[in-house]
Amino acid sequence: MKIVDSHCHIDDEKFDQDRDAIISNFENDEIDFIVDPACDIASSEKIIEIVKKYDRVYGAVGIHPHEVEGITDEDLEKIYEMSFSEKIVAIGEIGLDYYYDNSPREKQKEIFRKQLEIAKKRNLPVIIHTRDAMGDTYDILSEFKGEVVGVMHCYTGSSEMAKRFMELGYYISISGAVTFKNAVNVREMVKTIPLDNLLVETDSPYLTPEPNRGKRNEPKYVRFTAEKVAELKEMEINDLIYNTNSNVRNLFSIED
Ligand code: NI
Repeated sequence: MKIVDSHCHIDDEKFDQDRDAIISNFENDEIDFIVDPACDIASSEKIIEIVKKYDRVYGAVGIHPHEVEGITDEDLEKIYEMSFSEKIVAIGEIGLDYYYDNSPREKQKEIFRKQLEIAKKRNLPVIIHTRDAMGDTYDILSEFKGEVVGVMHCYTGSSEMAKRFMELGYYISISGAVTFKNAVNVREMVKTIPLDNLLVETDSPYLTPEPNRGKRNEPKYVRFTAEKVAELKEMEINDLIYNTNSNVRNLFSIED
């Protein structure tokens, strides 16, 4: 069965040499489609062009927490305007990152809230990046309860927090991290996530799953993650894929 990669940075420069070849091969690799989230204004602009060019690629526009320093209201106005472009299905990726702290935390929170406002105004879902900032992320998303929904991307937190995010209307997206040898907690958490709330993703070019860890990640490797999740959920791989694919379509209102 064809599989959807719900989060893949195919716009990344690491794909500049062979993006065409990778996307042309989706049919052979049994990839249904992918969703490409942005990190900043430049990648948002690049993604808008990529999704126009390639049928099987959808996109999101937004500012990653690493990139928020120096972001102005004019930049956010640009994100708002770009969100009207064809095949832009979400605002993302947005959130908080207290692990790298590449931008001051107060600024991260301000730009996170402002982008949630954009999502609310546009009635679009959000793609959430959170690292070492689970509490603040939850508190800010709670402020938009009933108004904004989305996905917790690359989720590796606890089952308890996952449950609280699901109660706010968020899907839980599992990356290649679930295949890593030491990721015992991630595997235990995955078992507790209801099928209706699960997504799978690569986060390519990062986070390559086993057995290809160390190489550049690619959309087709999402299958390794799906296989591991199916094993943990004790179900057939195609049943798992059927569900995660339709969850992506529901979340992003993708009809084809
Ligand atoms: Ni990402």
